[in-house]
Amino acid sequence: MNLVKIRTLKSTDAEALLRFEMDNREWFERHIDARDSAFYSMQGVTDHIAVYLSDFAAGAWHPFVIEDSAGKIVGRANLKDIDLSERSAEVGYRVAESACGQGLATLAVRHLIQEAQSHWNLKQLVAHVYPENIGSAKVLKRCGFLIEPASRQEGMEHEYRFSLSI
Ligand SMILES: CC(C)(COP(=O)(O)OP(=O)(O)OC[C@H]1O[C@@H](n2cnc3c(N)ncnc32)[C@H](O)[C@@H]1OP(=O)(O)O)[C@@H](O)C(=O)NCCC(=O)NCCS
Repeated sequence: MNLVKIRTLKSTDAEALLRFEMDNREWFERHIDARDSAFYSMQGVTDHIAVYLSDFAAGAWHPFVIEDSAGKIVGRANLKDIDLSERSAEVGYRVAESACGQGLATLAVRHLIQEAQSHWNLKQLVAHVYPENIGSAKVLKRCGFLIEPASRQEGMEHEYRFSLSI
């Protein structure tokens, strides 16, 4: 996709983010854990953004949105649970169903890796993926992540864990 922009989430994104999440709710719920139904309202999304930006200010989370050339939100990507002493974080991402298959998730994960290095000075990234989420696993492998042999951790028996040393 031409002229895609990846930028940090802003407090003024509530309306556009709600639209993105509502348009793709059923699509996301086929691949990842469902959000609480209270999330799907202006108040719910405004609160969600406030928490993310507060965690960003605290150095615990870096939320990004992916915009198409018209400025429409077509995806999200996050550095989650940033641990500055361990120098690690988890990556998460979601792309609108209509924008899939164009390399956006790959672009977003590469952006997360770059930000993890240049902004946060991290050395380890992890990701959790359901085994049936073949597209997501492909994105991670393409970006250099390796599946961990003892991937199934306590409380995460149904997910694979990928990691990347940077
Ligand atoms: C997973 C997801 C982020 C991929 O986004 P995307 O922008 O389509 O990803 P990319 O285009 O960068 O790469 C996806 C690759 O997987 C492939 N792929 C997708 N689904 C596939 C499937 N079921 N079987 C085989 N390959 C598949 C695509 O063809 C593409 O490979 P290619 O570039 O060689 O053609 C997107 O499908 C999504 O948001 N899903 C719902 C939320 C989610 O699962 N998030 C990840 C949680 S771990």
